Amino acid sequence: HDGALWGARFASGPSPELAALSVSTHFDWALAAYDIRGSRAHASALEAAGYLTADEAAGMRAGLDELEAAVARGDVVARPQDEDVHGALEQALIDIIGPELGGKLRAGRSRNDQIATLVRMYLLDHTRTLAREIIRLIDALVAQAEAHPSAIMPGRTHLQHAQPILLAHHLLAHAWPLVRDLERLRDWSVRASVSPYGGGALAGSTLGLDPALVAAELGLSRPAENSLDGTAARDVVAEFAFIAAQIGVDLSRCAEDIIVWNTREFGFVTLDDAYSTGSSIMPQKKNPDIAELARGKAGRLIGNLTGLLATLKGLPLAYNRDLQEDKEPVFDSVRTLEIVLPAFAGMVATLRFDTERMAELAPQGFSLATDVAEWLVRQGVPFRDAHEISGSLVQACERRGIGLEDADDELLAEVSSHLTPAVREVLTIEGSVASRTGAGGTAPVRVAEQRAELISRAQGA
Ligand code: ARG
Repeated sequence: HDGALWGARFASGPSPELAALSVSTHFDWALAAYDIRGSRAHASALEAAGYLTADEAAGMRAGLDELEAAVARGDVVARPQDEDVHGALEQALIDIIGPELGGKLRAGRSRNDQIATLVRMYLLDHTRTLAREIIRLIDALVAQAEAHPSAIMPGRTHLQHAQPILLAHHLLAHAWPLVRDLERLRDWSVRASVSPYGGGALAGSTLGLDPALVAAELGLSRPAENSLDGTAARDVVAEFAFIAAQIGVDLSRCAEDIIVWNTREFGFVTLDDAYSTGSSIMPQKKNPDIAELARGKAGRLIGNLTGLLATLKGLPLAYNRDLQEDKEPVFDSVRTLEIVLPAFAGMVATLRFDTERMAELAPQGFSLATDVAEWLVRQGVPFRDAHEISGSLVQACERRGIGLEDADDELLAEVSSHLTPAVREVLTIEGSVASRTGAGGTAPVRVAEQRAELISRAQGA
């Protein structure tokens, strides 16, 4: 019956409609290399338990090597009648080594424990690629921070001018979430490094196969403690999808800043030509499409996570075919990030900042008013009074159409006797920034420290 993994108890083959619904080779073929590695490890377990002689095991391994090369070359591909990658590759192995030996491989394993193991192997592998790409983006942000150690920009809350900050401080504020994403991937990897192989369909095997041997050969830390849980749980996939979505959200927030900075009104950054796009009708246009696509793809990554959680909700134990629906969304999340991250890193690395423009805008909107209040506190004025005095100075300056730094001695004295000319030491953006020396603050000395800390955290993750 055409190499199908089941059929003896059926009077007829599957209807074409069923076959069309059931088939998964168009996406689970991405697991082919992992399926073959799993088969190799399973052959070792069969040999160790005495179900394969040394010669048979050697023949099985040689056949799997040949199959692996043929799949890599593209000489073995899914046939229309194949239901999934596991069945297709088992049949292809039988074509190579014959039904006598090939038919022994399936003892003590099920596609349920296979697939649960392979998806972990796939995600663990891609986690390494993703981590590399995240580090490249962190490096680009850190390099820009290092290239602009003293540039000052308007810091905002509610998108309104709030207090002046170092550009480096802002850039590193986008790098920290990515460092935590790296740490999330690392923490996840520890939990994910489990092998359900040997759990069979759901209840474990009668053959005395050693699941620890399979786990070790696959580079996984340990076998699953519970065969039901091992075959039915997909929280490992959902958690990965969450981390991918969080990375997407972190990128989207950085993207939004770049998009806003790139407007004519802000004029803080210029994008490199190689990392921007044009318009088909407006010849002058230069658009931040990488940032916009990153922002847009975050929606797709969130969708992959919520779709997966919806699939898992209320599923009874143990394996249900619904679980086949875990792969397309999470494969898509991996692919999406593997495309977005390099483009995003290139865009960040080649950004040019107009630091003069930023510095010019930094004191506007009375953004030094907190500095005046805190200077008063250092002179012994209670903060409630200091807040009032500084607020009155803002009002007086606003009425005159001038900035705080333009208030003369007379106006200062008129607002409050506490406002001596010495207050001017904090009425420059450099003075303001330099005075924010509290832990995690924007003073250059603190920013240099946090940059070193960030680099070491990223290296440790
Ligand atoms: N292709 C399935 C999946 O991706 C694995 C096959 C399990 N099929 C079955 N009838 N138990 O989850």
